[in-house]
Amino acid sequence: TKPPVRIAISGAAGQICYSLLFRVAQGDVFGPDQPVILQLLDVPQALDAVRGVVMELEDCAFPLLADVIITDDPKVAFKDIDAAMLVGSRPRSKGMERRDLLAANAAIFKTQGAALDAVAKRDAKILVVGNPANTNAWILAQSAPGFPAKNITSMIRLDHNRAQGQLAAKAGVGVDAITKLVVWGNHSPTMFADWGNAELDGQKLADRIGDEAWYRETLIPTVAQRGTAIIEARSASSAASAANAAIDHLRDWVHGAGDNWVSMGVVSDGSYGIPQGLVCGVPVHCTSGGYVRIEGLTLDPFQRTMLDRTIAELVDEREAVIDILK
Ligand code: NAI
Repeated sequence: TKPPVRIAISGAAGQICYSLLFRVAQGDVFGPDQPVILQLLDVPQALDAVRGVVMELEDCAFPLLADVIITDDPKVAFKDIDAAMLVGSRPRSKGMERRDLLAANAAIFKTQGAALDAVAKRDAKILVVGNPANTNAWILAQSAPGFPAKNITSMIRLDHNRAQGQLAAKAGVGVDAITKLVVWGNHSPTMFADWGNAELDGQKLADRIGDEAWYRETLIPTVAQRGTAIIEARSASSAASAANAAIDHLRDWVHGAGDNWVSMGVVSDGSYGIPQGLVCGVPVHCTSGGYVRIEGLTLDPFQRTMLDRTIAELVDEREAVIDILK
């Protein structure tokens, strides 16, 4: 059998991880023949709850689960990792301003960045899920100068999957039939679900659906507001679908995603007018073990306006947290 891979997962006591850990242990990320060691991180007061989840993992008797480490120390959690899913973050408490939320999370991801730099394998693949995911990933990259920035990513895949589902339903086709969909920008209501390049059976999806007004006035806001709609309906935020998107993101990065495009928050190289260094959702092609940005797309005025709006929000978030790096 293969030697196990090590994956750090933070926020292990939380609701996303209650779906996520079991699927990772079952082989949904690394494959059915790849043993895994889970290195679970949470805050001290949550470790009892983590122990409870680990009892349940044991009770599943997953053949691929080689070991589980429980810790409140990022340096223990990130030691020799091949991958990480950073789900844990500080939720907004009552009366908390957005700026305070950004700052509280920046402090967490600054510490975690330093730990990553100190102890992780240089080719480890990092996915930030905890919100504000893009800016948390930016702080992480800034705080890990010796770690390749290319390997620090944030999750926009849930929004991508949401858009894919809505578009497939509208077109009356299976989700797989739709390709080259993009969700650009911040994982926030400013995100831009872009069908400009999307195809259905090799034809332009926009032509097949033929309803630009529906796209602009229904699809885009539905995807942007989906998280809120789920909270209203189930009195709790999306968890299983978020875990599923995290699995899709990392699995595609590890194994490749064929010819299709997927959306990932990656450190910008300056293309598409996205300031260099910002972590922004863009289209990528996942090759086995890596990703390549889709380059050279032409943006029409509507696409440009929508992308600029979400970029502006990312720049604002960066301004709000930049002092913490001093
Ligand atoms: P939750 O509140 O149920 O769990 C969060 C966990 O993180 C808790 O166990 C908490 O103790 C832990 N935590 C807090 N600070 C930590 C730290 N410094 N180190 C390690 N662990 C820490 O939240 P849930 O529902 O599991 O969501 C987690 C995060 O994922 C939230 O920030 C949420 O907004 C975000 N999210 C992001 C999505 C995306 O598409 N990027 C989609 C859905 C959720």
